[in-house]
Amino acid sequence: MNKVQHENHTMTLTDDLTGKSVKLPVMKGTIGPDVIDVRGIYGAANKFTFDPGYSVTGSCISELTYIDGDEGILLHRGYSIEELAEKSDFLEVAYLLLNGELPNITEKGEFVEAITHHTMVHEQISTFFRGFRRDAHPMAILCGVTGALSAFYHDSTDIHDPHQRMIASRRLIAKMPTLAAMAYKYSIGQPFNYPKNELNYAENFLQMCFSVPAEDYVPDPIVSNAMDKILILHADHEQNASTSTVRLAGSSGANPFACIAAGIASLWGPAHGGANEAVIKMLEEIGDVSNIQKFINKAKDKNDSFRLMGFGHRVYKNYDPRATVMKESAHEVLEELNMQDDPLLKIAIELEKIALKDEYFISKKLFPNVDFYSGIILKSLGFPTSMFTVLFAIGRTVGWISQWKEMIEDPINKIGRPRQLYTGYKSRTYQIESTREKKSIFNWLWKKN
Ligand code: CMC
Repeated sequence: MNKVQHENHTMTLTDDLTGKSVKLPVMKGTIGPDVIDVRGIYGAANKFTFDPGYSVTGSCISELTYIDGDEGILLHRGYSIEELAEKSDFLEVAYLLLNGELPNITEKGEFVEAITHHTMVHEQISTFFRGFRRDAHPMAILCGVTGALSAFYHDSTDIHDPHQRMIASRRLIAKMPTLAAMAYKYSIGQPFNYPKNELNYAENFLQMCFSVPAEDYVPDPIVSNAMDKILILHADHEQNASTSTVRLAGSSGANPFACIAAGIASLWGPAHGGANEAVIKMLEEIGDVSNIQKFINKAKDKNDSFRLMGFGHRVYKNYDPRATVMKESAHEVLEELNMQDDPLLKIAIELEKIALKDEYFISKKLFPNVDFYSGIILKSLGFPTSMFTVLFAIGRTVGWISQWKEMIEDPINKIGRPRQLYTGYKSRTYQIESTREKKSIFNWLWKKN
């Protein structure tokens, strides 16, 4: 941990008003831009930095994931996402993220065995579901029941014990598909399915979602491979909103199951994980290839809040490498399922073509992101749109918990506590008279009635 080299050089920040200067150390990682260590600014210059949305602020030191947004590169522990999606499987990637290295055969076997044997949830968890309205959004349910897991494992989760951290991490990776499938089954009024140990991670999730007591579910290898790939592509994405939420919640020493519930809440928004659901809604609204230009024009109109869902990214200013793999996978799956003529796929392909030639999208470097094609695959696999972000959450759980673990193990970890630029009143005197006036009006109204 902490392989950061402090560069010999510093950067000097000078206050043009007072002429006072502060020397700031420059930190160097293995790749990527150098980082200015601004921690000394307040002490030396009595000033904070301002960066809403944290566009240029590093909040931690991490060895997990690297993104080069200009080049469209995504690496997990140094391995490219394209290579992992092609050659690996989700549990192997999960092991890699958690432990830093790809597992050997014995390690892989032991990890798969451990995850498989943690997939069941306490039977009492199922009673939580009954508290939700039957039409509740599965993300609302997932957020609630994942938070509820913290009540089941609170006393056995000492976050300062590496063994207990490892058990909590494995429990979360193992139980998330079970909870997600239960949220789905509850929302469609079908009985919950228990996990089956003879199935792999993706197959088991599909079985828990699509099998019914009346008949057996036989997983289609193309479908389960596509599911596995979707999970790999969502496994981690450095310090995005939900991961930062997990880290921030965890920085206070909170229960990891509760921290992951906080991450799920953050993921739900349409600017983050909710975009895959929004993409399908948008494609359905477009309805026909002939309407695409109208929607492109809406997206470009400053006075219209509409945005092309599945386009643009805070970090990628090039094609999102996950979108490339997702697009290929969408074609494969639709071909296998004999759905090549899917009208939404046609609209998506045409929309992408038109947008990529449009000066607005070119100049703002807006390219398709991971969510642009994932919804099409998930829809063809039989998932309703409300489940799309839930599937994102299953994949991302390993990223969240690996980042949480890294944070807890990092000696520089301290509670997250941003500062602010205050623009409210300086000082005001409490006006007794106005309260008396309010009271007399209240008494008058009371008597009148
Ligand atoms: N359609 C039309 N215009 C856009 C879009 C879009 N999808 N995305 C950004 N812009 C414009 C935006 O209006 C702004 O224009 P201007 O500079 O004239 O004000 C400029 O591009 C920069 O946008 P921004 O909102 O300042 O950029 P950001 O980095 O804060 O936002 C984003 C990134 C992902 C929230 C945004 O691109 C967006 O809302 N995209 C649609 C939602 C979406 O697909 N989200 C999924 C993200 S990937 C999944 C994940 O990893 O979470």
